[in-house]
Amino acid sequence: MKKTILSGSTVTGDLTIGNYIGAINNWKKLQEDYDCLYFLADLHALTVFQDPQVLRDRTYSFFAQYLALGLDPEKNIIFAQSHVHEHAELMWILTCLTPMGFLNRMTQFKEKAEKHVKNVNSGLFTYPVLMAADILLYQADLVPVGEDQRQHLELTRDIVGFFEHRYGAGVFKLPDAHVGKQGARVMSLQDPEKKMSKSDDNDKNFVSIIDDAKKIEKKIKSATTDSGSEITFDLENKPGLSNLMTIYSVFSGKSIQALEAEYAGKMYGHLKVDLADLVVEHLRPVRERYVELMKNRDYLDELLKKGAARAQVRARGTLDQVYKTVGLVRS
Ligand code: TRP
Repeated sequence: MKKTILSGSTVTGDLTIGNYIGAINNWKKLQEDYDCLYFLADLHALTVFQDPQVLRDRTYSFFAQYLALGLDPEKNIIFAQSHVHEHAELMWILTCLTPMGFLNRMTQFKEKAEKHVKNVNSGLFTYPVLMAADILLYQADLVPVGEDQRQHLELTRDIVGFFEHRYGAGVFKLPDAHVGKQGARVMSLQDPEKKMSKSDDNDKNFVSIIDDAKKIEKKIKSATTDSGSEITFDLENKPGLSNLMTIYSVFSGKSIQALEAEYAGKMYGHLKVDLADLVVEHLRPVRERYVELMKNRDYLDELLKKGAARAQVRARGTLDQVYKTVGLVRS
């Protein structure tokens, strides 16, 4: 029996090369050895204000990017969260088991509440409970998550504990974090102390998967580099340059040491020019495939529908058991 892996991304901002290197590329490898479910967290997106048309378009766009990047809709179950209503239903049950104090100490809630002062809604607060429902609904063994989501996964495990304390064990599997082999962390291009984020207000900070060649070149060439001129990997003293080297290494398959040797005696500018070319060439076929897919919404709809149907079979099994366990009458 293959182990089950589940992950998703909130449908906000633009998918970046950081998401590609840190997550999607890893998902692609996992699809060979695990039973994988990947979904578009469109309900999570609603915790901050969304223009309806933008949310709709972005959901298709993220889905098409998943496919263009090589996630296989046959090997994996790929779907939109809102298409499987069991997510919201299980969330309610779990919400009734989660003490407010536990949600109050979520770092991401505190950060987001500060960022969106005008819209500190209850969904922002209960966001991690929905995430727990996503995970528990599919009996996931492993959840590939970034550092910023680790606390939410911990909470999911706590919620299993609350459930079992009240109703006994055997309904949910206790999920673990899946830690990739070499967790390359891609940092912001202008501020390399910060992680590259798809929701960054300044689009100079990231390269999006679907940026055109001109944009990619411009963004990489204007990336912050550090004082000095030698091309050496040094996270402490040269975070900007080191970040570019990380990206270079992942896209080229060359080791950092090989890059240092190749660029000995050369200038930062040389590396930037080559890196821009490399990223452009790497993303060119992805972008082309993406453009093709986006022309055919009917096809995307059909795939989403199939994905949701496959997901729902499993989700329903878990939800039925939960409803029965907590004492809801099943007719
Ligand atoms: N909160 C995650 C993010 O913003 C997305 C997400 C929602 C998720 N539900 C999940 C990730 C369940 C893993 C498992 O990136």
